[in-house]
Amino acid sequence: MCGIVGYTGSQNAAPVLLEGLKKLEYRGYDSAGIAVVQDQTIAVSKVMGRIAGLCEKTADGSLLPGTTGIGHTRWATHGAPTDINAHPHTSNDGRFAVVHNGIIENYLELRQELTQKGYHFESETDTEVIVHLMEMYYQGDFKRAVMKASSRLQGSYALGILCSQEPDKIFVVREASPLILGVGIGENFFASDVTALVAHTRNAVYLEDGEFAELTPDSIQVYDCAGHPIQKPISRISWDIQAAEKGGYEHFMLKEIMEQPRAVKATIAPRIKNGEIVLDDLDIDMHCVNKIVITACGSAYYAGCAGKYALERLCRIPVQTELASELRYADPLIDSHTLLIVLSQSGETADTIAALRECQRRGAKALAIVNVVGSTIAKIADYCLYTWAGPEIAVATTKGYTTQLTVLYLFALYAARQLGTLEQERYRSLVSALKMLPKQMQQALDMNPGIPKLAQKYHHSESMFFIGRNTDYAVALEGALKMKEISYIHAESYAAGELKHGTIALIHERQPVIALCCNESVTEKTMSNIVEVKARGAEVLALAFRDNQKIVSLADDMLFLPRTEPIFCPVVEIVPLQMLAYHVAKENGCDIDKPKNLAKSVTVE
Ligand code: G6P
Repeated sequence: MCGIVGYTGSQNAAPVLLEGLKKLEYRGYDSAGIAVVQDQTIAVSKVMGRIAGLCEKTADGSLLPGTTGIGHTRWATHGAPTDINAHPHTSNDGRFAVVHNGIIENYLELRQELTQKGYHFESETDTEVIVHLMEMYYQGDFKRAVMKASSRLQGSYALGILCSQEPDKIFVVREASPLILGVGIGENFFASDVTALVAHTRNAVYLEDGEFAELTPDSIQVYDCAGHPIQKPISRISWDIQAAEKGGYEHFMLKEIMEQPRAVKATIAPRIKNGEIVLDDLDIDMHCVNKIVITACGSAYYAGCAGKYALERLCRIPVQTELASELRYADPLIDSHTLLIVLSQSGETADTIAALRECQRRGAKALAIVNVVGSTIAKIADYCLYTWAGPEIAVATTKGYTTQLTVLYLFALYAARQLGTLEQERYRSLVSALKMLPKQMQQALDMNPGIPKLAQKYHHSESMFFIGRNTDYAVALEGALKMKEISYIHAESYAAGELKHGTIALIHERQPVIALCCNESVTEKTMSNIVEVKARGAEVLALAFRDNQKIVSLADDMLFLPRTEPIFCPVVEIVPLQMLAYHVAKENGCDIDKPKNLAKSVTVE
């Protein structure tokens, strides 16, 4: 979703802003713009479409000289993705420019009020009200105008504001939308995420909701919402630049698929000591928990669906999985005996944050499983376990999903140990099995060299069905999502046993059905379903262990998996399906890392 950057220092700002915006491209956007102050004038350039167009329009920034500026990538919410609706927006008197990430919920009232007062609106955006409020409240005091304008806003916003009268200064404001300050020497930065900062500095200040800050080349001053100066700690950004680059791979998604064995190892290794799962950051008393609710959005939700099986089997506690966008409005039956587990790669997903807050309000303690250090969810949850996957750039998550699932497995073993639901020997063998996962994920990558060929066969399909039972069904949910989000082929996951209650009506000659057959407690049943769809002409691509001869002889095509401890199998099983989606999307010429209409971090409801 929208990304914002800002720079004030001694370099020309525009090239720095353009570089920063390129780093934020992965968040998903449909237009972009920058504004730079020089000689008490703000120059703005905006384009619909890609940053490349903005670089062209500004001759790589050289047409906008000046050493202080702000930039934005916009993912359209209010108003179509056009040049006019792109940010930065400027005030009628040209004195202010604003970039905004989030949504101003009361913009209609404000727009009406400002129009009545004679302000002229150029765009259809909610953001434009901010810049007119700045003009209205400015009486020579930039900070005061920022405070007065922000006090009128309802909703979520991270703002970067320029004032032509104070050319070496940027004000930034944070309310329910990520905003990080980058501390340099003789120059300072801000951005909506650290990927835009790491090329310049590793020193960061994380703003909290309600705080705002004044940036000049030589200083950063943070204020609380009443305008009192506050001291903030400087945190060290641990991600390196290379981790956020393609490293020779054609796409970030391919790089991130290939990185999974390493990412899962990094997630597990520091948490196993002398054969024991050690989660230092947790002091949850599992004996007080009578129900676990897992909530998340998108793939993170599907990681929860797969992890639920392990948690229930190992801990013998009921586990409920809920989409965060549903849970937040569901009047949920949650109390102080509920443990809420929140999964989020970015830690900034708006619905997940809202569901988390709602459940905490009802007394639940929340454990966050998050990738981005210092993110909102990491901060507001009662406990946090990081996934240590490193930066994930491709919009469609891969290592984010598998590391979330891995942390759920770690937590399931930790909780089971505390609850005494596992015998010592079984516990030890499961800990050993966990350590094998990175190797097995690598094997799953190595033993399927035929995937590009399969993609050539299946990429023309209009739709695909992913079927499976139990954990295979949970993996099918994510497999189908990967396929549809990057290849644009309609893909539906179905519990294999439900086929006869609907989907079978859609099976026709050469209809692809991807059958997941790795959970051997139910493969015989899924095989019957394979026979049923084949009898109606379906083309079956099955995913199973190589030595499962029955399935090999039944299916038209095969994807293989190494034998894995059944409880942890989903984390390995998803890997060939990610690769299949990747190659199908490649055959279809899709923009794999930035699928249309999708955003990496969904910071609005
Ligand atoms: C978006 C992304 C998905 C992700 C989901 C939840 O839809 O494209 O890849 O699974 O948001 O994001 P989160 O950051 O909360 O895991």
